[in-house]
Amino acid sequence: MNPIAPKIFDFKDIKGISNNQLTQHYTLYKGYVEKINLIWRKLKEEKFENPNPTYSPYRCLKLGESYALNGVKLHELYFENLGGNIHTPYGNLLKKLINDFGSYENFKRDLLNAGKSARGWVVTSYDFIDHKIRNYMCDSHDQGGIWNALPILVLDVYEHAYMIDFGIDRNKYLDIFIKNINWNICEYRYNEILRHLYKQPPMPYTIPIPYMIP
Ligand SMILES: [Fe+2]
Repeated sequence: MNPIAPKIFDFKDIKGISNNQLTQHYTLYKGYVEKINLIWRKLKEEKFENPNPTYSPYRCLKLGESYALNGVKLHELYFENLGGNIHTPYGNLLKKLINDFGSYENFKRDLLNAGKSARGWVVTSYDFIDHKIRNYMCDSHDQGGIWNALPILVLDVYEHAYMIDFGIDRNKYLDIFIKNINWNICEYRYNEILRHLYKQPPMPYTIPIPYMIP
């Protein structure tokens, strides 16, 4: 298993969240990247004796794997869907949100309700069980995830995502988050799901992904 590198994100278009807040959050993300690389190295190199479901080094590493790897993936999706210059939904995704929630306002209300209720994450997902979009809620990286559902929008509501700028005022952070959603990226993710689902040809336009792999 080759080690993965942290992605580099462009925070310049994010308004209302300080660079200090974003940089410290990004540093935390890099810690998850380091940990998953360490865990994968140990899983590859070490010989494990007596794996069991009560306690064993193998079990601890596998638990750490799901926690750290989801920490990496969720933060990458979160940082990626912030910023840009289109902060209202449009296109296929807007039609789908109206179809599944009744209106964009209903979707936003449900997203905010989940954002106020979660202890970790809200993941707006396309669920293949019935092909609906829902706001799923996770209390930590490795708890609450729904299988066979693909993320379209990720919201981090851990205190570390907003305490520096907003103290304990989560509502203020949620208001700023909504204003900074990069709907270009969300539309791109949804269109990619449609493309794979209906075997459509690649999208005729390219949406710039706001990060580079170093
Ligand atoms: Fe976070």
